[in-house]
Amino acid sequence: MSLVQASTAHWQGEAPTPLNPDTAFNGFICAHVLHALERLGLFRKLQDDGSVDVSSFCRDNQLDHAVFHALVRAAESFGYLESRGDLVRAIRTGEDVRQAIGFFTWGVGGYHDVFANAAAVARGERRFGVDLHRDEGMVALGSAQADSALMRNILDKEVSALDFSTLVDLGAGVSERVSRLVKARPGSRGLGIDISKSATELGADTVERYGLGGTVEPVCADVLDILFNEQRVEGADEADVVMSFMFLHDLLVDPERRDQVIPRMRAAFPKAHTFLLGDTTVRPRNGEDTLPIFSSGFELAHALMGVPIYTREAYEELFDKGGMRLRRAVPFGAPHTYLFVLEAA
Ligand SMILES: C[S@@+](CC[C@H](N)C(=O)[O-])C[C@H]1O[C@@H](n2cnc3c(N)ncnc32)[C@H](O)[C@@H]1O
Repeated sequence: MSLVQASTAHWQGEAPTPLNPDTAFNGFICAHVLHALERLGLFRKLQDDGSVDVSSFCRDNQLDHAVFHALVRAAESFGYLESRGDLVRAIRTGEDVRQAIGFFTWGVGGYHDVFANAAAVARGERRFGVDLHRDEGMVALGSAQADSALMRNILDKEVSALDFSTLVDLGAGVSERVSRLVKARPGSRGLGIDISKSATELGADTVERYGLGGTVEPVCADVLDILFNEQRVEGADEADVVMSFMFLHDLLVDPERRDQVIPRMRAAFPKAHTFLLGDTTVRPRNGEDTLPIFSSGFELAHALMGVPIYTREAYEELFDKGGMRLRRAVPFGAPHTYLFVLEAA
């Protein structure tokens, strides 16, 4: 088995299809229980201490004992926790879920309203972005959790092989990645560009936490304005490496401009020798009878939001036509997610 096959073997997943109604219903409840226990800090505490005393945990965190106990019992019946008396500990499945918790934060925390209103969206009674919203904070937290559990090491390895003095992250969220990478490369500087004012403000805290004031700058701007409307961001055209994560598909929404995004990106960052573009792709349908975590949710959520997503092949064609040469497509932790390492052709 090649290295790439080994790192994508789990993309086939272990959830057997067809999901019978028992599994589907219990999966729905279980996902909510896991999300609730994560939000209440139980997994973090179990990670730190190995086991948790339920009564003291409720007391310390001012939790309703009966409700918390019901959540623990539910998690136990789903096979995630084991309790003896008042003491609870994670069993193997519980360990696995800690690795994957970002997907639950993303799906249950971020998209619960969107999924729950699918019928209203189909009828045209509700529209995403108008009277139906995701929880942006939970989406961002879920991404950050998935990054630290699954993606960080892969990105760090790719970046360690690159020469750069200016790093730009497009759709940077709270500028966590750009700050981490600049911190690890003394003498470099970075820009984290994001359209969200609140994410950019939080980005200032990230920069301060890393002690990088004046070295990494979070900038509130619309990347589409930089690409299509000649908006200049001071210092961005000096970038020698440009990155974006879980964001490329957002740039490609408008079918009229889709084919121009990659050439415009090259033009906007004329000195960039490498583009690192990470995104989740539509999973290939090869008639498998198992499903991985995340993919079905990612695909349905984007359909409900009216945002097209792409196969790996479609991305590669877009890069090729747009004048970027694919150095490699690195499996990037989450199922059917790649880090495309590209150079200006
Ligand atoms: C899915 S999040 C990914 C955030 C971060 N890159 C990560 O991987 O955790 C997409 C980000 O893109 C930002 N965004 C969306 N449209 C944008 C635009 N046109 N210009 C700049 N940022 C944008 C959002 O505010 C959000 O922070």
